[in-house]
Formats: sequence, structure tokens, C-alpha cells
Amino acid sequence: MNKNYIVPSEWSIIENGFDADNVEASESLFSIGNGSMGQRANFEEDYSGKTFQGSYIGGIYYPDKTRVGWWKNGYPEYFAKVLNAPNWIGIHIKINGTTFDLNTCKISDFKRELNMKEGWLSRSFTAEIPSGEKVEVTTKRFVSVEINEVGAIEYSVKAVNFSGAIEFAPYVDSGIMNEDTNYDEFFWEILEVIDGDNNACILSKTLKTEFHVATAMQVSFAINNKEVSATKETSKEEKKITHTYKLQVLEGDVATIYKYASYTSSMNYEIADLVEASFLNVEKAANLGFNALLASQIKSWDEIWKTADIVIEGDVKAQQGIRFNIFQLNQTYMGTDARLNIGPKGFTGEKYGGSTYWDTEAYCIPFYMATKDQSVAKNLLKYRYNQLDKAIENAEKLGFTNGAALYPMVTMNGEECHNEWEITFEEIHRNGAMIYGIYNYVNYTQDFAYIPEFGLEVMIAIARFWHQRANYSAAKDKYVILGVTGPNEYENNINNNYYTNYLAKWCIEYTVECLNKVKEDYKEDFDRVIEKANLTAEETYEWLKVSDNMYFPYSEEHNVYLQQDGFLDKELIPTDKLEASQRPINQKWSWDRILRSCYIKQADTLQGMYLFEDRFSKEELERHFDFYEPITVHESSLSPCVHSILAASIDRMPKAYEMYLRTSRLDLDDYNHEVHEGCHITSMAGTWMAVVQGFGGMRVWQDGILAFNPQIPEEWKSYSFTINFRGNTIKVYKSQTECKFFNESENEIKLIVDNKEIILTPSVEVVL
Ligand code: BGC
Repeated sequence: MNKNYIVPSEWSIIENGFDADNVEASESLFSIGNGSMGQRANFEEDYSGKTFQGSYIGGIYYPDKTRVGWWKNGYPEYFAKVLNAPNWIGIHIKINGTTFDLNTCKISDFKRELNMKEGWLSRSFTAEIPSGEKVEVTTKRFVSVEINEVGAIEYSVKAVNFSGAIEFAPYVDSGIMNEDTNYDEFFWEILEVIDGDNNACILSKTLKTEFHVATAMQVSFAINNKEVSATKETSKEEKKITHTYKLQVLEGDVATIYKYASYTSSMNYEIADLVEASFLNVEKAANLGFNALLASQIKSWDEIWKTADIVIEGDVKAQQGIRFNIFQLNQTYMGTDARLNIGPKGFTGEKYGGSTYWDTEAYCIPFYMATKDQSVAKNLLKYRYNQLDKAIENAEKLGFTNGAALYPMVTMNGEECHNEWEITFEEIHRNGAMIYGIYNYVNYTQDFAYIPEFGLEVMIAIARFWHQRANYSAAKDKYVILGVTGPNEYENNINNNYYTNYLAKWCIEYTVECLNKVKEDYKEDFDRVIEKANLTAEETYEWLKVSDNMYFPYSEEHNVYLQQDGFLDKELIPTDKLEASQRPINQKWSWDRILRSCYIKQADTLQGMYLFEDRFSKEELERHFDFYEPITVHESSLSPCVHSILAASIDRMPKAYEMYLRTSRLDLDDYNHEVHEGCHITSMAGTWMAVVQGFGGMRVWQDGILAFNPQIPEEWKSYSFTINFRGNTIKVYKSQTECKFFNESENEIKLIVDNKEIILTPSVEVVL
């Protein structure tokens, strides 16, 4: 059974009633972030029940020594862990001397809300502590988008049935462990614990990577909304600093603590300046005050929603789902820092410890291209360009030569840090996504200049990889690619994975096409790149032999491309014959049983058809969809969105809608029973694509024309979205009866809608 406790609401994620069993799931779902840092929705006060504490800073990682049973040559030395950073939210609270801990209280009227419109998290509840005192608590917390090193908390306690002492003991704690350490090691060294008047700071550094981080706090108090001063007692420990303040209250009084906190890191400052910068941040925040900071937070999110929002009328759960996805994507990555990327769990958990997967290129780029300035997607591409040398080194470690590059499956700094052989060595299709990302960007933005300037070097190195990775099969008189894992990770060490072979062929062809164009139009860049890469025309002819003669497994009987050699030896039993008790199979079955089964984790052959849809006829798409979808278990978050888009494009709206709900509410309804580990951030971009590309039918065809083919699920009254397209803003609205386009820019825009050309004049609504 999937969980279903989130209250439907258009702009908020809401939990009513306290259930200790939901605490860890809610900690993921109610996470907050600002693209630079973020954290799980842990309680500020002590909690002795089950919890997974997590606070993370973009780009700060630890290379945790690889742990495997049996070492294989070529394994990376380490697995990069997104580091659980010092805790700045903590406030120990005592009511008349008794520790306040929800795990020991009688709780009523518990409500937790993540307000996505305004970017804050709150809780309110009444609690009776074991000694009989009753309190009403309200809290609000956010991490500021505007001052992206700062977070703020407002925490109020009303003394309902007593007069006495409420003790607030705010602290900074650097003694935080990652949940997923390989050797149970502590990853931080504490350098300094600094006490101030109403503030404190801890300077710590990560072991090995030596990132330095200063975590500061500053507090103030109010009783019944009037500022009061309080006397503090300091307790300084090796890894923690706590300030304890006792406020005397009368029955009915409300005591409030405001806690401002800041992370500053050596990614942005000289080490010697970190502590001061952190202190300055909290001072600035405290001077502005909670309400002013909150007002600017609301403004920042208002700006984000202007281009990012998708409005769905007539289906609250679908509306909540899409906004949750858009909100989390923005919380994870705002696009302002080219050193950062989009981790599959964002700032909501630690699994998938590395930061960057193929997910970025295959799933996330379209969302950022259409909802933000073009420079954001370019930053994402440049992230890979900057890591080309490491990708070449990575390929060299595996025996490739001549500047061939294999981009990592998981990375923080360009080095591979995934260490399961079937993924590290075999899931090489990821290399194809690197070029696809460039193609997609250039096609969408028409910024072809990116290719001569940066992209071409990446493309040459990847084409070299495919050329070397394929081998000639005399038996088939074709080129084959052996021993791979496709996107479907429920098959390993297979031969001729359709998706991988298709991408390899396409990568070579596209690289050669771009080489020719750059030679024609960007002669200087061409000469520079050719010299740097030491590339000859002869070498490209060798590449083309591989792409021209690539082998693709095909079944005459079913008239479909096969996912891999031998696929038809499997017993093809559709998933609707699988008992519910057996799912998800990755939690119920042995790995051996999974590998032997026909079940597909995520779109694989269909992933290729999705990326290159214009190369397949509708009948072909239908045939392949009907063959593969019934045996797909969608146990990767990246699966339902692709199926939703394909289903819409072959006019299967009920299926498209079913898959849409699954992708958009994957975490909210915990379909895969794992939300407590964190949210699936990268697939959220797929949810956005499911509306815009799926229902909206948006495509940018190779001739550069923007096309739509809007359809609407029966369950909805209407939906609308906005996209940035080459500097223009276009609004699309679709209801059950009409379809409207509005051009918010100053230029005329040509569109193809339902195969007919229309011209959008600025500020004139076109109704179809
Ligand atoms: C998927 C991969 C994906 C990774 C991170 C895995 O479950 O199979 O394709 O890259 O999750 O999202």
C-alpha cells in the first residue's frame, strides 16, 4: 500500500495529525532548500522517535573510501557522499524543567505545512508533556532565496495551563554523521567553536576534501510579540555550542525564539574570512528581522512561479503534484552557480550520494531551458565541459585511448564515484545523454555557437569512446556493443542493448554533422578544436563505419526492436499478472529472480524512441509501447514520465493520465515505498515534461519550429503553462473546449499547432 496521508491542497503540502510512523517520510516531503543549501524537515526541538536528520550544502562532499566485497580493477577509489552538514536548526526546549519531546507528549491538532507559493515550512500543534503542562506550539522556518547562505526560524510556545519557565537552548551541532557512511566514519574535523554575545559559530572542515564551513547562529526573543532580552548560559563542547535562556511566563503567555543561521563555505570565501562572513550574515538577518526576511522570501518565490507555474483546474491532487515537483526542482537547483548540479535526491536525503547523474541531461535540461533564462541550461552543459579531462582519464583507466571520454555515472567533481560493476563499467549509455543534452539545448535555443566554443570537444571525445567500445562481429557482419547495462538496470551484462546502440550510432552521426557545420561556419574554432583533439578526417571515416553498420536486435514475429540480444527467451508475463504483494519487485524478489524475469525497471527501448520520436512513425511507437509498457514495473522514478509522454503522443490519454499521476505524486503518495530516504528530484523534471511535452505536445522539431498538440485528460477542467523560448515568453492554455496561446514578448512567433501553422502576434491572444 502506498502512503496517502498528504492533504490535497493547491499550493501547500499539508499533514494533519501526528503519526510517528510518518515522521521520516514527512522529513523528506517537507524539505526546504534554496538551490545552495537545503535540509530535511526535522523538528527543531528534541525528538527521541525515529528520525533522519539531514542538512546539506551544495557542492560540499566527502570521498568515502569505496566499499565492495570483491575489488575489480577500474573501480573508483571513492564514492562521493553529499555531506550531512552541521545542524543549525536545533533548539532544546524545557517546560518547567522537563524536556520537550513530541515522542513523549500527548499531541493534538498537529498540522505541518510546506507553503510552496511562499517558500516556507510550518508546524502547529498542542502538546501535553508527561508532567501535565500543556503548550500550543507554532513554528515557521525557511532558507532564504535572496540571501542564500541564511536560514531563519520563528518558534513560539504558548503556556496553556501553567505559569513558570520555558527554556530555549538554541545550538549549533557539528557532530553530525552521514546516514550512509561506508565505514561509520565521521567526515568533519572541528577547528573552532566560537562563543559570542547572542551568537555563536563553529568552524569545521571536511576530511580529505578540506572544504571549510562556518555555521553561525544568532537569536532573539519575544513574549507576546514584544521583544525581550534574556540571559544566556553557554555550554561549549568539542563539536557543539549551546546557549541556554530561561524565560518566565504566565499562563496564556506566548514565548517566541527567533533563530537566524548561516553557512559560509570555502567554495565562496577565503578560509580566514569564513567565520566573520557567517557572523555578518546572521547579524544582517537578525537586523532585518524574521518578518522582513519572510517578505523577501515570498517575493523571490513569486518571481520563480511567474515562469515556472503550471495551473491545473479541476483536479486538486494533480495541481498539488505538479507544483510540488516544480517547487522541489527549484529548491534543488536555481541555476546561478555553474559548479552545482541537480542531485537525484537534492537536499532531501543521502542515497545516490553523488551529485550528478545522466538524469541532468536526459531529464532536467528541458525544464530549466523553458522556465529559466537560457544561461541556466548552458551552465549545466558547461559543468560537463569543465569535466572533460576527468572523463578522458576515466576512460583511460578502463583501457580506452586517444582522448576517448567516458563520463561518470555519478560524480561530484568529474571523477567517477559509483562502484557497482554493472553500473560503473556497463551503464555506458550515459555518455550518449551528454551529447543529447547539447543537441537538445542547441535545438531549443538555436545557440549553435555553444558547439564550436565548448560542445564539440566533448562530442569528439565521446564519439571516440563509442568507436572504440563497439566491435566488429564477423558472425553478424555488423558492429556490436557487448557487455552493457541499459537504462533498465534489471538486466546486466547484456549484448546489443537497443538504446545504447542507438545512442552510440546517433552520437557519431551528430558529431560528424556538427564537425562539418563548424568547419563551414566557424573556421577558427574548427582549427583550434581539431588541433587540440588531434583529429583527422580518416579517424572520422573510421567512426562512421561503426555508426553506418550498427547492429540492432529485431523481432520479425513481434515487429519490434528488442531491448537486447536474447530478450525473447524470457517468459513475457505482463505486470498485471504480478500480485500486488510482490511489488515493488526490487524489495520483494532476489536479484537473481529479477535478472531472469522479463520485468523492465524503466523506459529503455522506449527511452530511445522518446528522445528521437520524430524518427519513428506513430504505428512504430504504438507497437513498441504495447510490447514494452505491459512488462515495465516503473521502479525507477524516471520511468512513468517517459511513458506518459509517449502515451499522449499515441493518443492514449487514459494511460498518459495514469502515468502522469504516478510521476507527479510518486513521492507524495510514496509509490515506491522509499520516500523516507528522500525525494526523487530529477524525475520531477520528467513530471513537468509529462504536462508540457505530454499533454501539451510541445516539441521543437529539427527545423527549429516550435510545435504543440494540446490534449487534456478528462479529469481536468483546464491546464496552462508558460515557456521561455528563445527570449520569448509564451503562455499556453487548454481546456476541454478551447486552446489559447498568448505571446508575452515583443516578437512575432511562428507555431505549429495540431499540424497547422499559426502566427502569434505580441500581446494578442489566439483562441483555437
Ligand atoms: C535509475 C537511474 C538513475 C538513478 C538516479 C536509478 O534508479 O535506474 O537511471 O540515473 O536512479 O536517479
